[in-house]
Amino acid sequence: MPHIHLKEYQEATLPCQIGMSRFLFRATNVNHRNEQLIAVEVEGKPFFILRKDEKKCLIKSDKITRPSPTYLIHTALLDYVSLTDAKVLSSNVHTAHKSIHFQETTALKPIEFFVTQFPQNDSMHIEVGFGSGRHLIHQALQHPNTTFIGIEIHRPSIEQVLKQISIQNIDNILLLDYDARLFMELIPSNSIEKIYVHFPVPWDKKPHRRVISKAFIEEAIRVLNVNGKLELRTDSENYYMYSYETFMGLRQLSLEIHKNRSIAVSSKYEDRWRLMEKNIYDLILINTEESPKRNAILHFKFPKKLCNSKRLEALNGTTVTFEEEFIHYERLYRIENDGMLLRLSFGNFKQPEHLYLIFRDDETIYFPQEPIATPTNYKVHQRLIKELHG
Ligand SMILES: C[S@@+](CC[C@H](N)C(=O)[O-])C[C@H]1O[C@@H](n2cnc3c(N)ncnc32)[C@H](O)[C@@H]1O
Repeated sequence: MPHIHLKEYQEATLPCQIGMSRFLFRATNVNHRNEQLIAVEVEGKPFFILRKDEKKCLIKSDKITRPSPTYLIHTALLDYVSLTDAKVLSSNVHTAHKSIHFQETTALKPIEFFVTQFPQNDSMHIEVGFGSGRHLIHQALQHPNTTFIGIEIHRPSIEQVLKQISIQNIDNILLLDYDARLFMELIPSNSIEKIYVHFPVPWDKKPHRRVISKAFIEEAIRVLNVNGKLELRTDSENYYMYSYETFMGLRQLSLEIHKNRSIAVSSKYEDRWRLMEKNIYDLILINTEESPKRNAILHFKFPKKLCNSKRLEALNGTTVTFEEEFIHYERLYRIENDGMLLRLSFGNFKQPEHLYLIFRDDETIYFPQEPIATPTNYKVHQRLIKELHG
């Protein structure tokens, strides 16, 4: 994670532009005054730099708003050093250069791309957690008329696969840096031919983090076209049993089970398990039904004059739960000269979203962007309006 330790910095007046970065505003945590968020925009992408003033001053990117690619963060951190005329004590940010592979390929798409213009093709496949990308790339080369969407949350894997896409000039892969469980709700009904989930992390100690769950399978059935398949491949007997039981909890399904089936390409993980002579299990769900279309979601706006700082202070640190969803008001910040900033997590317990909200006299807005337009988020947003209003 890029970070810099500083000393002897000067506070600058914001907003202001320096280098490639436009610094927008500063907000201080009301409970921990040594923690600040600095809103910045580089190449049109807004995000926060997190600053912690302890013995030394540390600046790094904020996890929730962290932009992709990483060089945007490097740029903002280096520009912040210039802005504050600070002395650098230590740093792992040396230069802010654009990775050539990010420049050459347009394969990496932001989540908003899928919200506004979900790709359409008669043949669409999705791979969840593609890791080294061996299977994804092999499939894409074998099926040039199919569009592949690869979803990963591990940045180095994404960068590695982008490099391969660029070197091999592959034009039928789109990559997304996002939690696949949340992504499922955005996919149009009956649009996908295959979903691969190969060697998901078993999360034996934190089962709520597993990709496979009842909600995931139900969404998979909705998005698969008739005869479309969800292919789970695992070396973990525990995960296999857990998934089998989850599948069996459904009222109606068609399932294929294989043990030690060979497939056209084996992943890095598979090679490792085969060397250790571990068994490999496939659970393949075949969708048999047409699903109803999803209604379009309107918007995530707030009414004017929604709440005051007293209400926000009362909510700070609290959690409200309802049905299968929750809202946790995690941290409150005071924006210098103008308003409040709230960090919150909300949504379904198993797949929460983390967000920021800005409150100014005349408006309440999400920063840097609205939540992804899923039915769950919309439901929680409506509840949030009521909660904030008090
Ligand atoms: C054990 S690795 C397997 C990688 C690859 N499928 C293979 O067979 O080599 C699991 C991958 O899933 C990714 N992953 C875990 N949870 C995820 C999620 N919710 N959404 C997207 N990717 C996820 C991890 O980052 C990791 O790269």
